[in-house]
Amino acid sequence: MKAEILKMLREGESYVSGQQICDILGVSRTAVWKAVNQLKDEGYQVEAVRNRGYHILESPDVVTKEELVSMMDTKWAGQNVCYFDKIDSTNIRAKQMGEEGAPHGTLIAADYQGAGRGRRGRMWESPSGSSIYMSLLIRPDIPPLNAPMLTLVMALSAADGLKECTGLDVQIKWPNDIVANGKKLAGILTEMSTEIDYINYVVIGIGINVNMREMQKDIEETATSVRIETGQVTRRSEVIASIMKKFEENYEKFLETQDLQALQEQYNHLVINKNKEVRILGANKEFTGYALGINEKGELQVKKEDGTIKSIFSGEVSVRGMYGYV
Ligand code: BTN
Repeated sequence: MKAEILKMLREGESYVSGQQICDILGVSRTAVWKAVNQLKDEGYQVEAVRNRGYHILESPDVVTKEELVSMMDTKWAGQNVCYFDKIDSTNIRAKQMGEEGAPHGTLIAADYQGAGRGRRGRMWESPSGSSIYMSLLIRPDIPPLNAPMLTLVMALSAADGLKECTGLDVQIKWPNDIVANGKKLAGILTEMSTEIDYINYVVIGIGINVNMREMQKDIEETATSVRIETGQVTRRSEVIASIMKKFEENYEKFLETQDLQALQEQYNHLVINKNKEVRILGANKEFTGYALGINEKGELQVKKEDGTIKSIFSGEVSVRGMYGYV
């Protein structure tokens, strides 16, 4: 009920009468009054004026199921939300739910991860109260070979969502790191379960540094947070809802051609590696070249010194700028 009340208060132009809420939700005035008081206890500033009703003045940076449900403005992405104060890893939970048959678009979010996972077997530090940890479960009807492009769809959606909510000028370090002022703001880990020619499910997990005042010493040279860059506290639920909305739109464009044709230009506009010298580090070979941007399959096009153009597939290499992380 709290989620519905929050949604009504946010959508209402000014005051929403208690009676209107009772009629729509089919509950008593006392029940509404109690729910509003619980919201106040959680940090929402709700004004109650006799004969006019309720009006929401300010929402805190809380991530709860009710808050997420009330913010979501999508058809399917994030419509089924599971929220945990503490979890091992939202990707692990999303994969379990994928096995158990959870629907396309299920979102798992948490405030703290005890075993957050990064790419290449690394761990993802996941302190509570300041970051976004979430995993989206999808069931695309596409060949498994096309699935890596979904990571780029999420990178683009996350960059757009962050830009919209924070005003930060974010960029993408191909294929899927979100960067602000040359430092990493967010990372994406995509995992999937497939048969030879069929995808059971894909889990796209994303970790975003939002409200940390400072980064841990060991990563402060290469990582940053929205707060460090803007000096402001950002409501995490707003960012999550915005990314879900962008992902839904971008995913539907992706499905039309099952590649990045429709998103390539937008993505290339944000790619920090574009028109830069890059170092490509493969399992057993390394070379330098000039990055031209991605093609419609999401592969980075790199012009080598001899003038030939090589397509780099995201799974096989890591890309470095010539002088550091970007
Ligand atoms: C990277 O190494 O850049 C990817 C980091 C991905 C971290 C996110 S946090 C939410 C989700 N759950 C995990 O365990 N990992 C991803």
